[in-house]
Amino acid sequence: MNPPTTSPTTSPMNPIDRFIRACRRKPVDRPPIWIMRQAGRYMPSYQEVRKRVSFMELCRTPEIACEVTMMPIDQLGVDAAILFSDILVPLEGMGLEVSFGDGGPHVGPPLRSEADVERLEVDHAAERVSYVYDAVRLIKQELGQRAPLLGFAGAPLTLASYAIEGGSSKTLHELRRMMYDAPELLEELLDKLATVVAVYLRHQIEAGVDAIQLFDTWGGQLTLAQWRRFSQPYSERILSEVRDLGVPSIHYCLGSAHLTSALAELPCDALSVDWREPLSEVRRATGGRYALQGNIDAGVLRASKRQIHWAVADCLADYGNQPGHILNLGHGITPDVSVEAARELVIAAKELGQGYGGTP
Ligand code: CP3
Repeated sequence: MNPPTTSPTTSPMNPIDRFIRACRRKPVDRPPIWIMRQAGRYMPSYQEVRKRVSFMELCRTPEIACEVTMMPIDQLGVDAAILFSDILVPLEGMGLEVSFGDGGPHVGPPLRSEADVERLEVDHAAERVSYVYDAVRLIKQELGQRAPLLGFAGAPLTLASYAIEGGSSKTLHELRRMMYDAPELLEELLDKLATVVAVYLRHQIEAGVDAIQLFDTWGGQLTLAQWRRFSQPYSERILSEVRDLGVPSIHYCLGSAHLTSALAELPCDALSVDWREPLSEVRRATGGRYALQGNIDAGVLRASKRQIHWAVADCLADYGNQPGHILNLGHGITPDVSVEAARELVIAAKELGQGYGGTP
């Protein structure tokens, strides 16, 4: 009998299979790596594009969104691409004005009253941003088998925070006021957002994304009881409503250690964890029922290459040689980081990841 020409341990896996398998907690040759906010201002090539077009124009033009989505694939060698867009894009489809200036995003007019929430459009809102699905189709064509494409959306609570505050807020005072003074109104808003986001994600999946991530960035600002009332049911509904389409789903929440008991009830495949909790701890607390994504401290990307390698080694060792790990940072990469540091993170992940991933 002829010996096999390629040994299964030396031939690299197809990148789409590797990512999907990791999400489903099946053994892989090494954990895949991608970086939240991997296409962005820290890249000179992105800055060049932004000199020509505004951020929203970029999101609205599939050819340019595709070009930017490919940048981290070409320049860093990450194992997954993420659709270039923003979580605030569907708010435009609901009739709000969305723009991005030097002070961050602006959403207007801010939703404060019953009439404001009433006016929000739900029917056809997801269809009004069809440029997003056109971008997905174009990117899938461009990527071929090189890497999976992730779609994404904001969780209703996080989207509501931008819509109520009118932009970024460190204190979320207006959201908190509504949570106490008009909880039913907030629930009505969250319900509308959940309806639109579920359709929005279904369209992305139908256009070809291989997995989806739901960003509940500000969910960690709530108490456990508040999160159970104002975030969990809406994210749960969205995740359930896309489940029949068969693509893996990832849930991200910043600063969510106090929410783990509730996160462990979400109908998703993976939990994306911030840098503050060891993954081994989260795996124990969630009974090993989820793949885990993360959770290297983005701060290390300002340090030496040696420290970057140590951070990757630590994260891999903490998770251990078990299936279900997707390497990533604990939060998005920031504009001050060099492309070289990001590339070093990917190099380290690919080198040191061999022997992890749950392979016998
Ligand atoms: O590379 C990628 O990850 C894909 C694209 C992506 C962007 N935003 C592009 C972007 C994704 C997945 C997001 C998600 C997003 N947007 C989140 C959740 C993730 C997280 O970081 O917690 C949130 C909270 C937003 C809202 C948002 N968008 C803010 C607060 C800002 C301004 C601050 C900042 O980081 O620039 C944005 C703008 C934005 N979204 C930029 C990019 C590349 C910068 C726009 C520019 O000036 O060119």
